[in-house]
Amino acid sequence: MNFAIINGKLVNRSEAKVDIEDRGYQFGDGVYEVIRVYNGKMFTVKEHLERFVKSADSIGITLPYSIDDCTALLEELVTKNNLVEGTIYMQITRGTAPRNHVFPAKDVVPTLVAYTKEVARPVESLTNGVKTIRTEDIRWLRCDIKSLNLLGNLLAKQKAAEQGCFEAIQYRGDQVTEGSSSNIFIVKNGVVITHESNHLILKGITKDVILQICSQNNISFEERSFTLAELAAADEVFLSSTTSEVMPIIEIDKDQVKEGLPGPITRKLQSLFTEEIEKQCGDLTEKISS
Ligand code: PDD
Repeated sequence: MNFAIINGKLVNRSEAKVDIEDRGYQFGDGVYEVIRVYNGKMFTVKEHLERFVKSADSIGITLPYSIDDCTALLEELVTKNNLVEGTIYMQITRGTAPRNHVFPAKDVVPTLVAYTKEVARPVESLTNGVKTIRTEDIRWLRCDIKSLNLLGNLLAKQKAAEQGCFEAIQYRGDQVTEGSSSNIFIVKNGVVITHESNHLILKGITKDVILQICSQNNISFEERSFTLAELAAADEVFLSSTTSEVMPIIEIDKDQVKEGLPGPITRKLQSLFTEEIEKQCGDLTEKISS
């Protein structure tokens, strides 16, 4: 049987249901997280749960469990579902109440849902890189909240998919912000550059691991916004996310990034990132070839 968690209880996945007046369903009034599982172990779970609490706090939802209780619950879910390689999706909404834009009374209980999915590492794309497009960032000004409202992101991702691309690189004015579901990095003259974590982007957990790796390995980096012109002139470009890790970008709007091959610093970060996964979750069987 496959299980899901609804409000602290493990239930049969096929029987896990929420009310049609759940505010997540009606308004997207909630926040979410995606956590990677390798070898049956959760990667950077503490960081994800801390961000979950922060996102929830910023919209006035209090997580009814401690981070430790939540971790134990998710561990149980992974074990029960025999998940070896995949993701945990979890979300919390403001609960079920008659539809009204105003928040419901304080005694309305938030709905917490979590379930797992088997997902293989995208080794082929990690090896060869992916194609992207650029598109205007039309989202709201609190992109630091991992909100269930993803319409802007979905429209951007769909546009990329329709052009046979993996990701859409979003920009405001002439400044690159982030991907539709990832953070974006450029490398210029040996320096790794990525947008600072403010209200215009999501503070990616993968991004933070990469920046930590940079500082521990004497790889220069700058956390600042960069322009479309800098993107076009970059030596290397890559994206990061929980499911995509350190993903080389080899094409932007049909223009090759340099020679259209993953660059040396991207490769180095991929290998150091793999080491970090292996430290937390044990050896990985499939390797990225370079
Ligand atoms: N997306 N920016 C956006 C808009 C994202 O949706 C994501 C992640 C990231 C990268 O964050 P992290 O490294 O913590 O995964 C940046 C997840 C995976 C998703 O929505 O499926």
